[in-house]
Amino acid sequence: MSQRSQRKEEHLALAKMFFNSNKNNDFKHIHLIRPALPESAVSKESIATEMFGQKISAPFFINAMTGGSVASYTINRRLAQAAAKENIPMALGSASILEKEIDQIKSFEIARQENPDGLLFANVNPTTKPKVAQKIVQVLNANALQIHLNSVQEAVMPEGDRDFHWLDNLKAIRQAVDVPIIIKEVGMGIDPESLRTLLINDFSIIDLGGSGGTNFAQIENERRKNQKLMFLEDIGLSTVKTLLAARTIPVNKTIIAAGGITNALDIFKSLVLGAQYVGIANYFLQFANQDTESLIVAIQNLKYELRLLTALFGLKNIAEADEVKYYLDTDLYNFTRQIYN
Ligand code: FNR
Repeated sequence: MSQRSQRKEEHLALAKMFFNSNKNNDFKHIHLIRPALPESAVSKESIATEMFGQKISAPFFINAMTGGSVASYTINRRLAQAAAKENIPMALGSASILEKEIDQIKSFEIARQENPDGLLFANVNPTTKPKVAQKIVQVLNANALQIHLNSVQEAVMPEGDRDFHWLDNLKAIRQAVDVPIIIKEVGMGIDPESLRTLLINDFSIIDLGGSGGTNFAQIENERRKNQKLMFLEDIGLSTVKTLLAARTIPVNKTIIAAGGITNALDIFKSLVLGAQYVGIANYFLQFANQDTESLIVAIQNLKYELRLLTALFGLKNIAEADEVKYYLDTDLYNFTRQIYN
């Protein structure tokens, strides 16, 4: 097995080892104000929405995880089967491995084969050659391309990149592909200054990928033999803080909340804080590790719970979630006061 392929398998195993749905994340510190007289009813259509011009059944999707190894083939197959059955979008893991190892393509293609009509996102790293990115989008018939920003992960990986000049290549990749680009973090969060830079450069679909869930500094530290860089595990910005910060930038944008989301209430809170969509990775992986059926049930449960929340908060449609009132605990409130400066 190549080093890259082995890394993919280790990521899957370590994500499982570190998964914890009770992580102390900031979602606990935002409190929604519920109407006692909601004047609404639970309805089937209340959470359906659109993404990239296509109807989807709920405003959440399976975020980027894997591809490029034997285990990834099975996982991508199950993820794609569930995404197809439930009509939610799915992102593949980084396909940059194909730049060097084209024989790994099967573990990505299987997702398109299992879900010919659904929304499928390809994913590359920010140093991928534009031509390669274009080829990957074409081969997978991808509806959008995610480009991940993962400087902390690279820093902890002994074999990782040490040059983080990425913006020019992001623009070059955009020139080369003809599908929408999603810029995403992988669990350390996109800060307001970087968000501003991305928006100024016309990258307007942003997955904030905050901390509070999968932590790639932790995963890569576990893979390191010596000089573990533990101090890098805590330098992320939480998903809730990335959302609060994004709200302060009055520019039209599509915001995806991600990082540590494992239940319907946190999905709902993300939408209240201004996200249009929510990406969920490790929580779904735990079901895909078992079988397709349990993942389908997990997705159905989330949808049902979101419909309940929509009605309980007096909304006809979940698109109105940003009208729900809330209040913040002190740390979050402090944060919102200080990021204006
Ligand atoms: C990831 N993630 C990820 N992101 C990305 O852009 N490209 C990738 O190849 C991967 N690979 C990957 C593997 C595994 C096993 C996991 C669990 C995650 C990051 C993922 O898309 C997401 O940003 C973070 O995991 C945070 O979300 P969760 O896991 O807390 O819901």
